[in-house]
Amino acid sequence: MYDPIPWEGPLPRHLAMIMDGNGRWAQARGLPRVAGHRVGADTVRAMVRACRRLGIEALTLYAFSAQNWKRPPDEVKALMELLLEYVEGERAEILDNDIRFNCIGELGKLPRFVREPLEELCRVSSGNRSMVLTLALSYGGREEICAAARRIAEEAAAGTLAPDAVDEAAIESRLWTHDLPGEVDLLIRTSGEQRISNFLLWQLAYAELWFTDTPWPELGTDQLFEALRAFGDRERRFGDIAPKGA
Ligand code: IPE
Ligand code: IPE
Ligand code: MG
Repeated sequence: MYDPIPWEGPLPRHLAMIMDGNGRWAQARGLPRVAGHRVGADTVRAMVRACRRLGIEALTLYAFSAQNWKRPPDEVKALMELLLEYVEGERAEILDNDIRFNCIGELGKLPRFVREPLEELCRVSSGNRSMVLTLALSYGGREEICAAARRIAEEAAAGTLAPDAVDEAAIESRLWTHDLPGEVDLLIRTSGEQRISNFLLWQLAYAELWFTDTPWPELGTDQLFEALRAFGDRERRFGDIAPKGA
């Protein structure tokens, strides 16, 4: 088990990260884009470890979007192979540290050689409670909301769900994130782009956003701490007014 990192001040319960900039990081060094993804996998390890040591309940990483299938086949293939390497390489550490491994997205679109080991790690780690690590794979926020809407329509058509019963909880319970802390508290995106790129559209409704120009392969724990301190300094009002005395 890792040693805990003591932390003063509020921490997000659910932290999400858009891991961006691998390709540009590599290209700026005259390397193929895939080299950036490879170094990026080391950043994933470092972030998972730090979040677990800090006691963050849920970490959700955007690893491959539903739109990333548009990329050249060689890059897609390399990403799938890296994913397999990651699951095989991290299996022991995930299990030793009581981390529940979880995947969201259109997992049926992933090639079998990677889907099966992913599903196996989800199964064997399902009883772990200290942190849930979710990889968003072939994931899109619109796709997720459409899937929930389809289920609701099917249940309504079958007469098992009354239209009046369709409220926020009914939608949330049919999202791929149904077994995670519902809201994202803090979203970090690396590499300068300030957009959501179809990530967790529903769950980010009141998330605090933190952007850095640092590309994902260079992100370090110091910057994670900087983002967490910034989160602690934000006043989250959720549409209300500031509390008295604040
Ligand atoms: C993020 O890095 C990883 C994935 C989207 C799979 P990118 O590959 O998007 O890197 P840039 O943004 O092109 O530099
Ligand atoms: C978002 O990054 C997807 C992931 C990090 C997996 P992209 O690089 O695909 O997003 P855009 O194209 O810049 O919006
Ligand atoms: Mg990108």
